[in-house]
Amino acid sequence: MGEPDAGHPEPADLEAGDPGVVDSGVGHPEPADPGAGDPGVARPADGAPGRSQETVTAVYDRVSRFYDLYDAPMEVMGGRRRRERLLNRVRGRTLEIGVGTGRNLGLYPPGVQIVGIDVSAGMLERARRRARDQGLDVDLRLADVQELPFDDDSFDTVIATCVFCSVADPVAGLREVARVVRPDGQVLLLEHVRPRNRLMGWVFDRLTPLVSRLFGPEINRRTEENVTAAGLEIVDVRRSGIWREITARPRSSASGGDEAGGSAGASDDSDDSDGAGT
Ligand SMILES: C[S@@+](CC[C@H](N)C(=O)[O-])C[C@H]1O[C@@H](n2cnc3c(N)ncnc32)[C@H](O)[C@@H]1O
Repeated sequence: MGEPDAGHPEPADLEAGDPGVVDSGVGHPEPADPGAGDPGVARPADGAPGRSQETVTAVYDRVSRFYDLYDAPMEVMGGRRRRERLLNRVRGRTLEIGVGTGRNLGLYPPGVQIVGIDVSAGMLERARRRARDQGLDVDLRLADVQELPFDDDSFDTVIATCVFCSVADPVAGLREVARVVRPDGQVLLLEHVRPRNRLMGWVFDRLTPLVSRLFGPEINRRTEENVTAAGLEIVDVRRSGIWREITARPRSSASGGDEAGGSAGASDDSDDSDGAGT
């Protein structure tokens, strides 16, 4: 879903005890999830598809007309700030997955070459209009992240904001991301995840079927675990409530867990005092 933004009719971030930290994500995607064994867990972190991609695409085609409108409050509640922080780090030839209505397009640093894909023709049409209106030179294509039409090792940066909550098989999509990013490249993700709090995890599991049917995203994904399962190495993760700003790289490019683990000592996420915000 969008950040509590992007199409994310996310409830405010309700995760208790998570004031927002910048963390090395290495080795600890998500602490053991007490709700993992709950029969009601709508989607496990193993990427097992529950909805078909056709269903997901149809929802986004349907909501594309209203997406920016219903997502606007989330944008104001911290979504825009998170996008900007992630986009500032983009470099080189860049692939944006799930470009949506193109809200990130005007926020890229100058000089980056952008290819954007989305599986929804409705969303992509709005992104094209936005790029045209803003005079942006971007290459926008209809494509599915689960089957990317690009060669191996072809991008310096692959970025996605609020996308792997929606992709039918997120691990398959992330494997494709791992394939097309260069060995020395970076994967930047902004995603909301299932709350670690047991009660809130249970609530999000039960809300997911309705939210996903109405708006698209599943609000109980375990994206940190999915990133790792796809063969990427998380080198840094900034956690704030249900929000994750993840930096990953192809595992083969890693020089070892020690380096990765030492690359980002935990520190307070001081400008993210909104542990209860988006
Ligand atoms: C919640 S929206 C986020 C849009 C945009 N990234 C943003 O931050 O506003 C999720 C987007 O992912 C797209 N999407 C879903 N499944 C996809 C797939 N398999 N491949 C590519 N895009 C996909 C949807 O069509 C939708 O545009």
